[in-house]
Amino acid sequence: ISWDAQAAQKGGFTHFMLKEIFEQPKAVADTLIGRLSDNNQIVLDEIRMSAAEIKDLKKILVIACGTAYHAGMIAKYAIEKWAKIPVEVEIASEFRYRDPIIDKSTLVIAISQSGETMDTLMAIRHAKSSGARVLAICNTNSSTIPRESDAVLYTHAGPEIAVASTKAFLTQVIAVYLIGLHLAQVRGVMKDSQVAQLYYEMFELPGKIEQILETVEPLRTLTRSFAQSESVLFLGRNIGYPVALEGALKLKELAYMHAEGFAGGELKHGPIALIESGTPVVAIMPAAGSLLAEKMASNIQEVKARGAVVIAIADSPLAAADYLVRIPATHEFLQPVLSVVPLQVIAYEMAIARGNDVDQPRNLAKSVTVE
Ligand code: M6R
Repeated sequence: ISWDAQAAQKGGFTHFMLKEIFEQPKAVADTLIGRLSDNNQIVLDEIRMSAAEIKDLKKILVIACGTAYHAGMIAKYAIEKWAKIPVEVEIASEFRYRDPIIDKSTLVIAISQSGETMDTLMAIRHAKSSGARVLAICNTNSSTIPRESDAVLYTHAGPEIAVASTKAFLTQVIAVYLIGLHLAQVRGVMKDSQVAQLYYEMFELPGKIEQILETVEPLRTLTRSFAQSESVLFLGRNIGYPVALEGALKLKELAYMHAEGFAGGELKHGPIALIESGTPVVAIMPAAGSLLAEKMASNIQEVKARGAVVIAIADSPLAAADYLVRIPATHEFLQPVLSVVPLQVIAYEMAIARGNDVDQPRNLAKSVTVE
């Protein structure tokens, strides 16, 4: 590996997780850099597919576990929208035990920070035995999953020591955006100028993450006031839905609290019964002005009417929320890279408030090398 010993130290931060949260602007920039040619083509030679093979693709299947699975869910929204290829996303441990309908016209994308997750490794072996081509998105050079895949796109998050994944997640999301744009361009379904514009918007993300990190102190204080809550619910819609799931996973993992993520539209189909007076609900607002932002505002009213306290993560003012965490505006499909950052901070702060071990939460390992 090319990492030096110093990179693996805390560098003045109280926890590795906090350090890694603050390293996210650089991790995103490092993963993005050098991916657009002078003639506005996304450069992704590592995926080792010819234009003809890309045009022949019938389906993409993303397999991953935990946080990487949430990056896979984001991939579905972005790749289907941009490249117009059907995308399925599956938890690796489930995929392995069914008879998937895949063949050489299917591209399987395996996402893993460590490259050693046994469930994901067994899933790619299963996919390869069915004739599919496997592309790994991985943060760890020469680990087992890239070695067993047909191709690998490395993320450049650097070493992630804390068990809870933060910067690796953001770089996985960047990697799937790059793949989506590349496929869209090669298949001729997006103009070069549109692709270049999105790439340049992505390059503004590191600065926007920095802005969020400069203003998290009030959120840390607010989080501590909810430390005794029994459960926290997260709501999202569309590409914000996987962000809600990720926020809930982080909180379970670090704060040992009951936390669940829901699609806003599902509330009335059951989950709204969970709301009690004072239940904290974190709402990931879609981009301001969109139809979905209106729908989410209605969801906020619904939970507030039942006593919930709503913390909204939004790119514009929102009267309906009790607390607002402002994030900078960006393209609606890039928003997860920003909206997840306050959720990481909430989980981090809640873990401290509840006296938990932030970097080594109970019962968990950084790399799960058993089934
Ligand atoms: O190394 P991997 O990305 O394959 O790990 C997958 C999951 O075990 C991992 O993302 C886990 O969910 C994290 N601890 C979540 O923060």
